[in-house]
Amino acid sequence: MHEAPTMDRQQGNGTKSDRRTAVLVTGAGGEMGYGLIHALARAEENLAIVGFDLKGLPDEVADCCTETVAGDVRDQALLEGLAERYSFGRIYHLAAMLSSSAELAPDRAYQVNVGGTRNLLNIAVDERDATGRSPMVLFPSTIAVYGIPTLEAKHAAGVITEDAFLEPRTMYGCNKLAAEHLGRYYANHHRQVEEGPTGSIDFRSIRFPGLISAETLPTGGTTDYGPEMLHAAARNEPYDCFVREDTRLPFMTMPEAIDSIITLGNAPRSSLGRTAYNVRSFAPSALEIHAALRTHFPALTVGFTPHPGRQMIVDGWPADVDDTAARNDWGWTPTHSLESALEKYLIPGVKARYAGS
Ligand code: SER
Repeated sequence: MHEAPTMDRQQGNGTKSDRRTAVLVTGAGGEMGYGLIHALARAEENLAIVGFDLKGLPDEVADCCTETVAGDVRDQALLEGLAERYSFGRIYHLAAMLSSSAELAPDRAYQVNVGGTRNLLNIAVDERDATGRSPMVLFPSTIAVYGIPTLEAKHAAGVITEDAFLEPRTMYGCNKLAAEHLGRYYANHHRQVEEGPTGSIDFRSIRFPGLISAETLPTGGTTDYGPEMLHAAARNEPYDCFVREDTRLPFMTMPEAIDSIITLGNAPRSSLGRTAYNVRSFAPSALEIHAALRTHFPALTVGFTPHPGRQMIVDGWPADVDDTAARNDWGWTPTHSLESALEKYLIPGVKARYAGS
């Protein structure tokens, strides 16, 4: 005898007709949130933006938002309460614990990075149930989804495609890969038993390399040596780099990352052959970053004192990634080489930021 399947959570009931249309940005107070919210506000006049962050938002971000919410993405009831008042046709789910922090608190990282993402996906599914339209969920993933077993294998692999080496060796990488898979499932297979293979939401993710911003610094990541070296240089401080000189990873500037999210969001869904895409702009070694910075800050001194745990993490990440799918499917093209990134954006930006200090 077959038992009727039980529902594990209540579905949206389709009666939420008086809600205001808005986009939701989680992690709105983080580095990427700062850039994305300004870009969205610039690009779409009168766009209602709900900014959600654990710690609340700085004024210059809050000023672009219709409403700001200080809260935790693990709090499903809080998110559901918001969705009672807003119709979120687009969700930018940026909130996450980064790789080094996640290694130190793996249980919490799992709850935030996987549980939090599932909560947002549930909100998106409810939205689809309420409106009949599939909301778009844009999700920053990471090169941390890759795990290359040895340094020799990393050197031999060189530039890697989306489907290679998907054996992450960090909690953060496992979390992000799990979240990517959940998104792909909700996009392509959710409710397949009842409705056939149509999926419930429009999930799109980008696997970001290390990001470098002139305006902000990351916290708790393992690619942080790139931006930290830049900001130390601008402050006329020596920098002690926590990875070896020969450590090579892909990077891009924060404005390029923001552009890529906006561009992917604008692409017709029919052109997207996958739900997770690589992007990259340049792939210098730590020593090459130092050398490039010294042409702008000749007095910069950098020591290299590898931290064993953090070195192990970056040794498992690819030296570079293949962004062909993003170029072909939605027209991704990087703006910068390392040199032009420094000359045109990073150096003027950090000089302005630290002027007078
Ligand atoms: N920048 C991230 C980190 O270092 C990787 O995506 O954790």
